[in-house]
Amino acid sequence: MIDLDANATTRMLPEVVDAMLPWLRDQHANPSGSYRDAKLARKAIEQAREQVADLISASPEEIVFTGCGTESVNTALHSLDVLSGNGKAVVSAIEHSAVLRQVDRFKREARLVKVDAAGLIDEEDFAAACEGAAFASVMLANNEIGTMQPIAKLLEMARSKGLSFHTDAIQAVGKIPVSVKDLPVDMLSMSAHKFHGPKGIGALYMRNGFDFSPLLVGGGQEAGRRSGTENTAAIVAMGKAAELAKQVLESNLGNDLAAMRNLFQTRVMEGVSGSTVNGDATHRLPNTTHLSFKDCDAAGMLILLDEAGLACSAGSACMTGKRKPSHVQLAMGISEAVAKTSLRFSFSRFNTLSEASEAANIVIKSAMKLRAVQGGGTGPVAIYTQ
Ligand SMILES: Cc1ncc(COP(=O)(O)O)c(C=O)c1O
Repeated sequence: MIDLDANATTRMLPEVVDAMLPWLRDQHANPSGSYRDAKLARKAIEQAREQVADLISASPEEIVFTGCGTESVNTALHSLDVLSGNGKAVVSAIEHSAVLRQVDRFKREARLVKVDAAGLIDEEDFAAACEGAAFASVMLANNEIGTMQPIAKLLEMARSKGLSFHTDAIQAVGKIPVSVKDLPVDMLSMSAHKFHGPKGIGALYMRNGFDFSPLLVGGGQEAGRRSGTENTAAIVAMGKAAELAKQVLESNLGNDLAAMRNLFQTRVMEGVSGSTVNGDATHRLPNTTHLSFKDCDAAGMLILLDEAGLACSAGSACMTGKRKPSHVQLAMGISEAVAKTSLRFSFSRFNTLSEASEAANIVIKSAMKLRAVQGGGTGPVAIYTQ
């Protein structure tokens, strides 16, 4: 199978599995214990904290391990909600559901900020939304279309109005250089499985001295910031994945991802008439392309692509199967009908240029086949491939 669904999740690197295994197989001590094995586990966790901090140029004490990216986001927003005075929560209309569903639960009003046709936040609308607001949360890179927001600028605008600021950087960390020195946000969410670590482990960066109220309370682990016995194996693996991601970013792998993505995109655009690229072409993750295929129902395409051995997504992974047009595309002004013809292709370092080219051929053939059976209209169709 050619896996072009890296924004949904990535494969663990062998070095990450190797780093994790002893903590699953041989070492089981609770890191809060006072005996030798417990101290070894504690030491391993603290090393992982340094590795994760290093990836985003933070200090180790600013990193809190969580149970997943969703928990990082929920924790950050919960804390902002509990500690901020009166005023709205400001979020972009294209946030991941981890943000949107959490702000739905608040008693305070949530103000959704518009994006333009390229998926970039409307800065005028953002500035207006910040008036009298308490805090803002804007994602660094969108999971569906890959568009990257000008966080430094938005942060400055929010700060000038006295707002606290969280960014969901889950799709960005590990794919592009992210530094809290350049983006001095108050909180930033990460998730290991987006950069070749395991699923079910995340981290929240919390700026030193920033006021915080935990979501999970109990045993007081993570310096009282996230109770629950630490998942030593997953934390160690996230640390290793962070260390490797940093090395790769320093050696410029971003360019390789972009090379594969660009080759694929160019071939597909040439081969499938009437296809369009969604999202800003410049401010975009190097590994992502989001395409609409005229007269090709995305659900039908997914079946044909799967049969031909190509994995990709319609909308975000969480939305697959729901058959609702993506809120991200609708917010960009893409019509419901066109949104239902869109697919996301996202590359990782496990892909190759020849896979990118083969994948393009598969997409072209599948679009032709689908158009032939659909006869020009979109909508659910029965596809007989044999
Ligand atoms: C932008 C964004 N935020 C949050 C999440 C949730 O992360 P996790 O799957 O680790 O809970 C995802 C995962 O797809 C994401 O892409």
